[in-house]
Amino acid sequence: MSTRIYFTEYGEPAVLQVGPEELAPPGPGQVKVEFRAVGVNPFDWTLVAGVLKNSAPLEFPAVPGSEAAGVVTEVGPAFEGFAIGDEVIWNGFTGGYRTEALVSAEQLTPVPVGVSLEQAACIPVAGGTAYSALRQAKVGPDDVVLIHAAAGGVGSAAVQIAQAFGASVIGTASENNQDYLRELGAFPVTYGPGLAERVRSVAEEVGPVTAVLDAVGTEESVAATIELLPDRGRAVITVPGRHSRDAGIAKVRLEDGRVWEAATLAAEGLLTFTISQRFPLIEAADALEASRTGHVRGKIVLLP
Ligand SMILES: NC(=O)c1ccc[n+]([C@@H]2O[C@H](COP(=O)([O-])OP(=O)(O)OC[C@H]3O[C@@H](n4cnc5c(N)ncnc54)[C@H](OP(=O)(O)O)[C@@H]3O)[C@@H](O)[C@H]2O)c1
Repeated sequence: MSTRIYFTEYGEPAVLQVGPEELAPPGPGQVKVEFRAVGVNPFDWTLVAGVLKNSAPLEFPAVPGSEAAGVVTEVGPAFEGFAIGDEVIWNGFTGGYRTEALVSAEQLTPVPVGVSLEQAACIPVAGGTAYSALRQAKVGPDDVVLIHAAAGGVGSAAVQIAQAFGASVIGTASENNQDYLRELGAFPVTYGPGLAERVRSVAEEVGPVTAVLDAVGTEESVAATIELLPDRGRAVITVPGRHSRDAGIAKVRLEDGRVWEAATLAAEGLLTFTISQRFPLIEAADALEASRTGHVRGKIVLLP
């Protein structure tokens, strides 16, 4: 018997319930995976809150969670590709807050040698999104990338991936995370009034900003992007809104193969997630409350 975290109505994280679940054997193209770590993302609590209730209403009971890593325990009939005992990364829309899951093999990526399952569980959403956004902005050597919200999951991955692409990084965060950004190799700047001016003064040392990844999407971050980046075509945002749309800033397009690309960088030692908080899976509601603060450093992980 496995355990799942589910909800039957939209609301605060407290609507989450814990319950047992009997999984069927895997069907054709399916694999059963025992999850060892599950990544938590802001999308999870917004999903529970009902952000998609009009555009894509969920069928209840619903299980949050878009990413996890674990070990294959059963494979469907006549199946080739994954075998029992393989370590895999799972990435889907919902359904990850479980000890065990039946998943489509198409949603799996092998865990590269040298990457722990806890790190692997953090790769799909933050790593895959950061990778896609930086490729979309065509970041490469000689670029100076401004990353708004550089201390969060997407931001901290982007700081590292941009440097792996040969770029220099200016990252924004609160006072609490300035040293953290320095440790990641970024030039830190605090957000708040005067943001563009502070970035400009750092740019005197690093070079002018040539690309932007905005992982917070505030009026302030969008205004700074407009002011600092003459070529709007090299700005990408993960939280689009009215301001970014008016400014012509592109929403991130997720690239096929992004999970494998980010996992490869992790295996090469170029991408490591700071796991700032770990919660037992059954305390998922507390994890969502922590994510909801909007001040997560790196990632939060659930341990089944
Ligand atoms: N479209 C997509 O496919 C996609 C994919 C992934 C994520 N997203 C979205 O992208 C956003 C970031 O995701 P995430 O996983 O990185 O979130 P996260 O891990 O919760 O990151 C939060 C970070 O934002 C920083 N922050 C808070 N207020 C800020 C401000 N006013 N200016 C600059 N930074 C600020 C915080 O730093 P301090 O603590 O230092 O304030 C914190 O480190 C979320 O809205 C998420 O839903 C979209």
